[in-house]
Amino acid sequence: MEQNLSSGIVGVIGAGAMGSGIAQVAAVAGHRVVLFDTNAAAVDKAKTNLTATLLKLAEKGKIANAEEVLNRFSFATELSAFKDCSLVIEAIIENLDIKKKVFADVEAVVSEGCVLATNTSSLSVTSIAAACKKADRVIGLHFFNPAPLMALVEVIPAVQTDTALVDTCKGLMKQWGKAPVITKDTPGFIVNRVARPFYGEAIRIYEEGIADIPTIDAAMTEMGGFKMGPFTLTDYIGHDVNYVVTETVFQSFFFDPRYKPSFSQKRLLEAGWLGRKTGRGFYNYAEGAAHAEPNKDPELGKYIVERIVVMLINEAVEALHLNIASAQDLELAMTKGVNYPKGLLQWADEWGATKCLEVLDGLYNEYHEDRYRASALLRKHAASGRKFLL
Ligand SMILES: NC(=O)c1ccc[n+]([C@@H]2O[C@H](COP(=O)([O-])OP(=O)(O)OC[C@H]3O[C@@H](n4cnc5c(N)ncnc54)[C@H](O)[C@@H]3O)[C@@H](O)[C@H]2O)c1
Repeated sequence: MEQNLSSGIVGVIGAGAMGSGIAQVAAVAGHRVVLFDTNAAAVDKAKTNLTATLLKLAEKGKIANAEEVLNRFSFATELSAFKDCSLVIEAIIENLDIKKKVFADVEAVVSEGCVLATNTSSLSVTSIAAACKKADRVIGLHFFNPAPLMALVEVIPAVQTDTALVDTCKGLMKQWGKAPVITKDTPGFIVNRVARPFYGEAIRIYEEGIADIPTIDAAMTEMGGFKMGPFTLTDYIGHDVNYVVTETVFQSFFFDPRYKPSFSQKRLLEAGWLGRKTGRGFYNYAEGAAHAEPNKDPELGKYIVERIVVMLINEAVEALHLNIASAQDLELAMTKGVNYPKGLLQWADEWGATKCLEVLDGLYNEYHEDRYRASALLRKHAASGRKFLL
């Protein structure tokens, strides 16, 4: 199967933002690509955008010949176009029933050996695989947006997946110039699970009135070293996307309070204040709108950074504790998937498990909320003095 996959035809279902990005990556890597969408207008739009993008890349010298890459594409509105594919990647609407139907339909047209992958961000790969007769050929390949620029790909075997397929897909992603990490099929995989406190704890600090929005953002960028503060970032992502991911992760984790969504963000969504794209979110993007100056008190900044980063560290440590991914893959995921200034386990090692535990236990003792419970692994490392990264 491996040989076939590395040089075979790649099918992509869904010509939206992710599907066309993934199609571009596969074509640039040398594959013939079939890009399919039920909506003919989406196919046309993808064709126009891909042509413009590839011409631009050739102009900048990033690819040798745009025409050659463009010739590798075919566009389709009929599933039968996938019949000679060795790999089909699905990137359609995030809806389990619709995805299951598409997987069952695709399986009816492809060959026995064709691998079927889903780019789902939040659904169980196992439940998608269950729609297929040959469920061991199904795997998650979770790209990040924009797929041609973001190196990280989370490779997610379902319960049913043939174990040999994991390494084959990891190899293929490397061949495509990506940084693959392997993660268990659990809600949010690595990035969308471990990153939750970046938003949630920042909003909690704001809701408690400890600091205002510009102050928290300034502390996280200027003292924490993050590229964007949590409020600027969620406004950029859009609250329709970011809030829904938080709510889905919370529900999928059987309502674990660590992932509890906030009313502040829910109200923004209800108001239609989705962030930059609507001109208003946590910030007002109208021309001339007044913005409060951040409070640069170093003690306050230190408190904000420590509280948010320690919650992130606790998530990463707990993910390691539960074997969601290896320590190396957790580090790679957070630096390549969300551009954190450093891996969270490295951060834990630099601060020391004892200090991390002190901050977390301090929060737990103050609030008596399960949200602040420290991972048992953090407690163990604090007791033994062991580091997370060797
Ligand atoms: N946008 C992101 O940041 C991001 C990142 C990683 C993963 N994802 C996941 O990727 C998938 C696609 O997201 P997107 O942002 O590209 O969405 P999108 O809305 O931009 O594109 C979805 C496309 O799928 C098509 N489609 C819908 N139903 C279909 C069907 N039954 N058959 C064929 N085509 C169909 C639509 O016409 C549309 O063109 C989702 O599962 C999403 O969770 C999104």
